[in-house]
Amino acid sequence: MVRIAIVVGSTRPGRNGEAVAQWVYRLAGQRSDAQFELVDIADFDLPLLDEPAPPSMGQYSKEHTQRWAAKVAEFDGYVFVTPEYNHGTSGALKNALDYVYAEWNNKAAGFVGYGSVGGARAVEQLRLTAAELQLATVRAQVALSLYTDFENFSVFKPAGHHEMALTTLLDQLISWSQAMRSTRAVYQS
Ligand SMILES: Cc1cc2nc3c(=O)[nH]c(=O)nc-3n(C[C@H](O)[C@H](O)[C@H](O)COP(=O)(O)O)c2cc1C
Repeated sequence: MVRIAIVVGSTRPGRNGEAVAQWVYRLAGQRSDAQFELVDIADFDLPLLDEPAPPSMGQYSKEHTQRWAAKVAEFDGYVFVTPEYNHGTSGALKNALDYVYAEWNNKAAGFVGYGSVGGARAVEQLRLTAAELQLATVRAQVALSLYTDFENFSVFKPAGHHEMALTTLLDQLISWSQAMRSTRAVYQS
């Protein structure tokens, strides 16, 4: 069975990201066609990238990098739960993506964004970053509005239709995560 990480993409105290990721995790947990794990980048205490060698060289010298690389390596696919900060993703998520390289390659990803326009601009930016990391990104995405899916911009109360969007996202992501296993096998052989 494929293993999918639900990555919490914000780290600030009082973040909305945790409730959104918990919602994804709860709905995903009702499925039996994949295994899911919540991965909170805040738990990894990654400083701003401090590796001397480019991550694509795979020379991870720091304990925090090795720990993060080992966690990323466990999965076939990822749901990135991203806020929108200044029309992009969070610095914390971009930093976590930049930290390692091979561990992301030839896997699949989907996005759950939230913001005033559903985190759409952050997700578009993330799709470009994912392409460079050789992460295949599925079309379906969840776009949560700060105005209509959060009470007072802080209490997460998603409209019902988002469940259908999340189901489509997970359908596509699980299928592509399975398919990318054979692509990885080609590169590893
Ligand atoms: C530094 C910063 C910049 C933001 N910029 C945007 C923005 O460009 N577009 C937007 O829709 N929301 C923006 N917001 C609002 C966030 O989307 C909202 O606060 C969201 O809850 C942030 O995610 P978090 O609570 O998980 O940190 C910004 C918030 C912060 C803290």
